[in-house]
Amino acid sequence: MAWDPEKAVVQAEQYVKDFFKQDASGHDADHTLRVRRLAERLAMDEGADRTVVALAALLHDVDDEKLSPATAANKENAARFLEQEEAPEDTARKVLAIIGEVSFRGTDSVRPSSAEGRCVQDADRLDALGAIGVARAFAFGGSRGRRLYDPAEPPRLHMNEAEYRARVSTTVNHFYEKLFLLKDMLSTPAARALAEQREAFMRAFLDEFYAEWEGQR
Ligand code: ADP
Ligand code: NI
Repeated sequence: MAWDPEKAVVQAEQYVKDFFKQDASGHDADHTLRVRRLAERLAMDEGADRTVVALAALLHDVDDEKLSPATAANKENAARFLEQEEAPEDTARKVLAIIGEVSFRGTDSVRPSSAEGRCVQDADRLDALGAIGVARAFAFGGSRGRRLYDPAEPPRLHMNEAEYRARVSTTVNHFYEKLFLLKDMLSTPAARALAEQREAFMRAFLDEFYAEWEGQR
């Protein structure tokens, strides 16, 4: 079975659909497929390689610390998939490097070294914003039994990776502790424009939320 980039992308789609069969924490095949669509959209503006972007987007969460701790360090799931597809070494190396760079790590986050990586990271971050972002945040909070909001508990800013990972707080605090930080961490102009609109929607959502909380609306 020789390397066929288009077939590899189709196979990767099927692979992630099987991989994420049931996950209620906001990491699911649907997230991955949205990231792929957004990343490909960004790739057109950035002149990035579409095969690398599509494969990295589709595989970006299959070796996530939280979902697959045993394979996270060496990205074994993604590596094995690429090997089975007989991906050229250069393609495999690029895709695996991107997977290592995309994740949000508070102040320890990295800016990807390739245009393809910047498209995938921006797409992943955009999927945490807007209406989808609100839905995912409360789905994640619910999966952990977190409270929606607590007026007595202020958000904590400037957390490094360890502090961010250890943090247990309300879902509204997550908006301030991660989501509203994302816009300024995006690399591509197209993603920044989309983030503007998504963030404005979230701010409007919170205004309404606080007013309703206080019984004002
Ligand atoms: P992280 O590295 O922040 O966990 P993920 O991409 O793994 O980011 O998060 C998956 C989804 O769950 C994202 O939409 C993210 O904003 C959301 N999420 C992550 N942590 C929390 C949290 N503490 N409260 C609410 N939502 C969260
Ligand atoms: Ni993701």
